[in-house]
Amino acid sequence: MSIRIFDALEELYEAAATAVVRLANDAVAARGRFLLALSGGGTPLPLFGRLAQPPHLGKLPWEQTHVFWVDERLVPPDDEESNFGQAWSVLLRHVPVPREQIHAVPGTAAPAAAVDAYAKELAALASPGLDWPRFDLVLLGLGADGHTGSLFPGATQDLPEDAPVVAVQAGYGGRPASRVTLTPAAINSAREAIFLVVGKSKAQALTRALTPGAGTGEVPARLIRPPNGSLTWFVDKEAASLLDDRPAASGHRQRNSPKGDPHD
Ligand code: 6PG
Repeated sequence: MSIRIFDALEELYEAAATAVVRLANDAVAARGRFLLALSGGGTPLPLFGRLAQPPHLGKLPWEQTHVFWVDERLVPPDDEESNFGQAWSVLLRHVPVPREQIHAVPGTAAPAAAVDAYAKELAALASPGLDWPRFDLVLLGLGADGHTGSLFPGATQDLPEDAPVVAVQAGYGGRPASRVTLTPAAINSAREAIFLVVGKSKAQALTRALTPGAGTGEVPARLIRPPNGSLTWFVDKEAASLLDDRPAASGHRQRNSPKGDPHD
């Protein structure tokens, strides 16, 4: 695991966009396609905006990219709370990803039907030994309560190990409560997971996610530990403001600042 702390949001989003371009091209060179899972929320939107514009736009292998969602709120795609809708308007409608390679959760379906439909969509691109694809990159956010995807505190005990997607009910920040989410098993099979965490309101949750103490039931972001993949946290200095200066328990920490000394 590594943690990259940025003084400026511009730098954070530029570094994240550069990482996406690198991972996408590496995936296409190695396997002929790039399997990307997006999260909702406000944090990834500036990244999506960058990817839709030069120079990143022209450096991404859009024709070989498949887009999935880590989670979705069960609302129509044109609802402003739809994760698909947000990604569509900021990113996907501006880039040449073939429409059939956009694998959205049907937001207007009932929960069980949405799970079923999305599981089938995932199964169609399953990796050997799994009922779902090994994502090349999963982009994740962090809630102020420690959730990620739609894996919420107090609701992680019955998550299946052998299924990629479940329906959940969870209130957070006035957002739609009926949701569908990838399971930790599906997320953790990824080759790369990147958390984007920005702002003071995330400082406490980030500290709890990165330091021993809280359990995974209290801070579900701690469930994300890809055993055969990499995990990187891109955080801004506000979100990092409560982290102490010691390296995180099990990883590399780097301060991305002209003044800061990168240290292990
Ligand atoms: C969702 C998300 C969710 C999100 C966090 C952070 O659909 O709600 O995927 O896990 O990433 O709630 O949201 P913000 O980026 O808006 O803080």
